[in-house]
Amino acid sequence: MNALQKQITCDIREHGPLAFIDFMETALYADDHGYYTSDRSVFGASGDFVTAPELAPPEQISLFAGSLAQHLSRQHPSLCQQTLIEVGAGSGRLAMDLLRSLQQLDCMPERYILIERSRPMQQRQQALLGQAGFLDKVCWQSMPPTQDWSGILIANELLDALPVERFRVYPERIARLGVTLDDQDQLSWTELPAPAELAAQIKAIRTRLDTEHVPDWPMPYTSEICPDLDDLLAALTSSMHSGFVLLIDYGYLQHEYYHPQRHMGTLVSHLAHRGHFDLLARPGEQDLSAFVDFSAVLAAASRCGLQPLGFQTQAEFLLQAGIDELLQPYLDASDTATMLQRNAEFKQLMLPTEMGEKFKVLSLRK
Ligand SMILES: C[S@@+](CC[C@H](N)C(=O)[O-])C[C@H]1O[C@@H](n2cnc3c(N)ncnc32)[C@H](O)[C@@H]1O
Repeated sequence: MNALQKQITCDIREHGPLAFIDFMETALYADDHGYYTSDRSVFGASGDFVTAPELAPPEQISLFAGSLAQHLSRQHPSLCQQTLIEVGAGSGRLAMDLLRSLQQLDCMPERYILIERSRPMQQRQQALLGQAGFLDKVCWQSMPPTQDWSGILIANELLDALPVERFRVYPERIARLGVTLDDQDQLSWTELPAPAELAAQIKAIRTRLDTEHVPDWPMPYTSEICPDLDDLLAALTSSMHSGFVLLIDYGYLQHEYYHPQRHMGTLVSHLAHRGHFDLLARPGEQDLSAFVDFSAVLAAASRCGLQPLGFQTQAEFLLQAGIDELLQPYLDASDTATMLQRNAEFKQLMLPTEMGEKFKVLSLRK
């Protein structure tokens, strides 16, 4: 039993079952022992999963970051040269490559602010950006500036890492899923009464699905809801005077997210590049993430005064951003190894069976 599991076990013995959302918060972000707050390596070949900015070797600007930089410099050149804020920056790889690429495009932001809740991640970002010579450009803050600012806000794979409520709907009742101890003291699932607010949110989703003629859910129906979206988006954009927001993640609009076929929800664990559904195992040692309900993000964004500019698959967005122009120089290169590696990176980002369709890009403006 690892240290975090011991702590959770003691808490449950003392206070009773935990709501799943609190378990997820602890498993991902508990001081020192959470998945993102310990020293373990999370990203890349030696970690548990690979994100789009990590697909290229460090000596090359990733096609993902290069395309984003092209998009920003072409579509929003003036905002791009003001403040650029990245939230949930992980290893810092996207920040490094965006800065390298924007420098080449002569469109450097005045300042690049990283907002990252994990201290060890911040330290990794500092080391990487220091090696790349960008420490004079970047700073770390817990939130965007409180004074009005204009510029760009980017988050890649932030929203899927927010803790979610897991619920189960029966014909006659709604349960909030929680975590308890079984008779061998192992973490196990339990059902708790759903708080009124959660029940009301689920009811509202079902009413909306009904108006969109989505067939009714099979019972029991298990899924999840992310309650922190509103507060997070409001905190990130309330002092934005004018700007452009790019949210990139795997997810669906509500009619797909809460489709009857998806009756076990979208939560998944990743360990050593294997996705699995043993969500309570080894807390703090494996990733936990849920797909993003982009309809909920759009609604929260609208409450924050943000207007949608586009909602595209990652493949559509990267094509429009000119990813092919970045790949072209490698296609007839005499260096076959690099050509094959860049082709593999391109396919991973673009193919519908890889990240091309599952990942969406939501663009908003204020
Ligand atoms: C799945 S990782 C994505 C990392 C990176 N963006 C990438 O694409 O490789 C999620 C990151 O978001 C951070 N994070 C989660 N919630 C956050 C919040 N509320 N504010 C800032 N960072 C957060 C995590 O610590 C982690 O670094």
